[in-house]
Amino acid sequence: MTTTLHDRVARTYSSDTGLIAAKNRMVLHRQRQRWSGRRDLLRVADLGVGDGALLEALSEALEQSPDLRLALTGLDISPAMLTRAAQRVTLTTVQSCASRSADHLPLQGFDLVLAHFILAYVDRRTLLQQARQLLAPGGILSLATSTNEGAAPLMAQINSRFRVSRNPLRRIIARATDHAFSRSSVPATGAMLEADAAACGLRLISRDTLRHTIVFQSAEEAYRFAIEDGWCVNVLAVPGIPPGLGQRLTRAGLRLFQYPFTFTQVVEMMEFTTADTATASIRQPEAASA
Ligand SMILES: C[S@@+](CC[C@H](N)C(=O)[O-])C[C@H]1O[C@@H](n2cnc3c(N)ncnc32)[C@H](O)[C@@H]1O
Repeated sequence: MTTTLHDRVARTYSSDTGLIAAKNRMVLHRQRQRWSGRRDLLRVADLGVGDGALLEALSEALEQSPDLRLALTGLDISPAMLTRAAQRVTLTTVQSCASRSADHLPLQGFDLVLAHFILAYVDRRTLLQQARQLLAPGGILSLATSTNEGAAPLMAQINSRFRVSRNPLRRIIARATDHAFSRSSVPATGAMLEADAAACGLRLISRDTLRHTIVFQSAEEAYRFAIEDGWCVNVLAVPGIPPGLGQRLTRAGLRLFQYPFTFTQVVEMMEFTTADTATASIRQPEAASA
């Protein structure tokens, strides 16, 4: 997907409210407990850093720890997102596709690698392999992603009202949805992600699952979630359709759905470490709550 598209999303993207904020609170809880006793340099890389809210919160949370110094790096494909992150927190910025992170960042150079809500854009195995290469021995990969478990109500409407419709816009919406799902590396389930991570030499050490029921009362609410909040931006990545036109088509297409539209968003937050690390050497935080 194009950098231009993500730059466009950067104008409205906000992780300060809603599901992304809930995810950040839970991840922050774990990371604060995990690292607050540390007394030297903590090197953190965030792949797909977005607006930098999590790094900012982590930095504030760990500020109180005596002798702990933070070195933060944010990698993103979007220069506009990197600018937003740099306005929030002091960090080194790297503009790159996350699938080439290991070409731009020091191998085994990070104690904590964050990769949150990026699997819609980057191949899952590639991302896991790249993150694995960045981790120092005993380092932690924090991976957050939605899964496709909650997609059934969307597909039910696409199949019954769009795919075989006489209205060409409805058929375009069905095609764009299929295209987005086929290009996305969002896992069907958390178990699938765990299996892929194991194949890449990463061992699961914690898992939190957030299930959040969402009701859209109108097409405007659905558009805000899908495009402005960044959850379904890849529906805009249809070859040959410029992002501006894609946004207008999406807005018009969403008016064709039936409302209220209810679905459950499932978000997995997992921590992995390198498979050869002894569990006893890893500080185990208590489970987080939403
Ligand atoms: C949904 S946002 C998530 C931002 C942040 N990780 C969070 O949890 O709030 C996805 C981020 O990934 C970035 N991104 C998309 N495709 C990417 C790619 N191929 N490589 C690196 N970053 C990418 C976007 O620009 C955006 O900042």
